Amino acid sequence: MRFGYFDDKNREYVITRPDTPLPWINYLGCEEYFGLISNTGGGYSFYRDARLRRLTRYRYNNIPMDEGGRYVYLRDDESGQFWSPTWQPTRLELDEYTCRHGMGYTTIHSTFHGIEAEIRYFVPMGENLEVWQLKLTNHRAAPAHLSAFSLIEFCLWDAQDDATNFQRNFNTGEVEVEDSVIYHKTEYRERRDHFAYFACSEPIAGFDTQREAFMGPYRGLDRPLVVEQGQAANSLAHGWAPIGSHQVRLELAPGETHQVIFLLGYHANPASDKFDPPGSQTINKRTVRPVIQRYLQADQVESAFQTLRDYWSQLLGRIQVETPDVHTNRMVNIWNAYQCMITFNMSRSASFYESGIGRGMGFRDSNQDLLGFVHMVPERARQRILDITATQLDNGGAYHQYQPMTKRGNNDVGSNFNDDPAWLVLGVCAYIKETGDLGILDERVPYDNQPGTETSLYEHLRRSLRYTVDRIGQHGLPLIGRADWNDCLNLNCFSDTPGQSFQTTTHKEGKVAESVFIGGLFVLAAEEFIALAGHLGQNEDCQFYDQAACQMRSTVLGAGWDGNWFRRAYDNFGQPVGSKECGEGQIFLEPQGMCVMAGLGIEDGKAVRALDSVAERLATPHGIVLLQPAYTHYYLELGEISSYPPGYKENAGIFCHANPWVMIAETIVGRGDRAYDYYLRINPSRREEISEVHRCEPYVYAQMIAGRDAATHGEAKNSWLSGTAAWNFVAITQWILGIRPDYAGLRIAPVLPSHWQSLKVQRLFRGVRYEITIQRSGPGNKVSLTVDGQPISGNLVPLPQDGRKVITVHATVG
Ligand code: BGC
Ligand code: NOJ
Repeated sequence: MRFGYFDDKNREYVITRPDTPLPWINYLGCEEYFGLISNTGGGYSFYRDARLRRLTRYRYNNIPMDEGGRYVYLRDDESGQFWSPTWQPTRLELDEYTCRHGMGYTTIHSTFHGIEAEIRYFVPMGENLEVWQLKLTNHRAAPAHLSAFSLIEFCLWDAQDDATNFQRNFNTGEVEVEDSVIYHKTEYRERRDHFAYFACSEPIAGFDTQREAFMGPYRGLDRPLVVEQGQAANSLAHGWAPIGSHQVRLELAPGETHQVIFLLGYHANPASDKFDPPGSQTINKRTVRPVIQRYLQADQVESAFQTLRDYWSQLLGRIQVETPDVHTNRMVNIWNAYQCMITFNMSRSASFYESGIGRGMGFRDSNQDLLGFVHMVPERARQRILDITATQLDNGGAYHQYQPMTKRGNNDVGSNFNDDPAWLVLGVCAYIKETGDLGILDERVPYDNQPGTETSLYEHLRRSLRYTVDRIGQHGLPLIGRADWNDCLNLNCFSDTPGQSFQTTTHKEGKVAESVFIGGLFVLAAEEFIALAGHLGQNEDCQFYDQAACQMRSTVLGAGWDGNWFRRAYDNFGQPVGSKECGEGQIFLEPQGMCVMAGLGIEDGKAVRALDSVAERLATPHGIVLLQPAYTHYYLELGEISSYPPGYKENAGIFCHANPWVMIAETIVGRGDRAYDYYLRINPSRREEISEVHRCEPYVYAQMIAGRDAATHGEAKNSWLSGTAAWNFVAITQWILGIRPDYAGLRIAPVLPSHWQSLKVQRLFRGVRYEITIQRSGPGNKVSLTVDGQPISGNLVPLPQDGRKVITVHATVG
């Protein structure tokens, strides 16, 4: 069952009923001002940091679900009837409803008793504000006398404190109202130089800024007193809960359309010029007024919207494909790429499942996210790499997380997640392959942000690998530390106390438990590093890491091999995890994907055997589960993984982040049909038709789909912010379609499903547009290329030497 449809031409998903199984959200903002918005207008806004600079309030896990947002109430001033044109929060049945989620904007359109309403929400590029463009049309035969009441609830900036420290917060709220603009200035009197504003393009019939005055005591958002009575109370907030609400009265003749613009924004003043007049407590508004005036004009808003559309066309235009499959096309061309940009902006901070007050930027997460957005925003990727690297420790290890506002490593979470450093190598190499910017390796970057500790980025990469080499266990495999990619495989934790963090509690010294997965990852990262070092003529490094990788390869193929698949780890007692010898958790997905990606077992058939075991034991119609059999009880020696009921999350859920590793591995062993089959099983667009089962948004990946042991097999959770976005993008574009950036050019090595006869790809690479057509000539994967009509040998299309900006590539595969 579907709840809407894709409009690919407009790059929109159109939701046709408001009561989606879960709020289906979108994001506003591409630079520093951001918001989440659901299909019924729910969500919140923040400036840069969802915890520390939260503009509006949102109550997570609320009942009814997803209440609190960017609301407008419409009231028929003759009958007194009022409704929400976004359905929430009144939830009155609308005569017509559609929500269009697009690239950085959302438009909700509805009709109620002859009044058509359309609200478009977006953030203009270069500005710290959001526009709500409300258009009302009277389709009645008679004139309509309407009131529109806007509503937002201000957050007192620090979202964590806002939700907990009421003894203080109920006393601090302050606002100013001038003309049609409401200014939220809590804490502006003391250490904040920033404030929020909520403006309206029309003369107002009244306003409210005190929540209780607007709502009336003991009322819900579905029937605020002021809206019911049809008259704003002109309340001024002193403490308690500041809100922003305008009342606009409109008389619309039959057929008439009228537009009202609301602006919600963030503004900072110079510390020395906060007040006007100086010495007063009144906000200096001279700096913000021009911005407000500009965006209250309809033509400015239209042109800002066009600029936003162009921005996304330009970003998405860098890779465009035309394959025989609509789900592949729309995910690659639109939604998967868009989701990669959202993970760039949000990391794991703010979604319907991430409260914005929890996690900072993960070291491993950010490096993996890079793989999905580097081709769209290479300059910003460069800065991201330097920021991440500056949080590395001088022993090569890494803070597991860093804070986006301060860019400093997070001491509460600390380090010793032993896979972390290796991902930096993969991230940096992907960046250089995309851009050719070898110069980044010479950038001087500190350790732990300490001035005076700077070395080249290249040296950081060396230390990243060295970190693994320096931490080897009794089988010769890398020690796991607190966890590896699987944050829940906590082999040194041994936690028996409720509430302890599985990620930061360590009861064992960590000298025994080893990870086969890190072994595979190390080989992969070392290979990447060797290629790079070779390129730079760093022969000693090449030799050293070649030897280390060789050693690790044979260890993984020895102690890491279980007979039919790769083992997962060895626990603190030296016992295998992910082995036929185990009662539960006999086989895990991650090492099969990672080891084959690292080229292990290709020659001796182990790779194919491991992947066949995945197909037999782990693959379900909804995707590949992380392990089998699921853990049925809590194992002290395994940690959080066994804390989840069977089938959920890391305990045998379908972890969509790790599925593409198996897709890639399948292409490496040449099995395009199987790779593509796995790709489609979790492709959100493909799953759209079972939205009542999948329940999350059909246009973006979710972190997890419940596995076969779960009561709700096939149900997705934790949509949007996941390494799933980057890795699926890499799997389909670079391995199945096979268009891979490399140091000296673009590699064309598709491993396609056998029923595909032909496809086209447009790829912007280092300023050159590659127009690629791929045609099947036989059942195999052998590639023959012609470049601008000339046959070339091999599968690497070199960069043009003669300044050509467009290159035509024809590939036959068979
Ligand atoms: C989740 C993991 C996550 C970890 C760290 C765990 O509860 O299951 O997916 O990586 O927390 O945030
Ligand atoms: C989500 C975390 O953000 C990521 O770092 C981790 O690799 C996966 N969960 C798997 O545990």
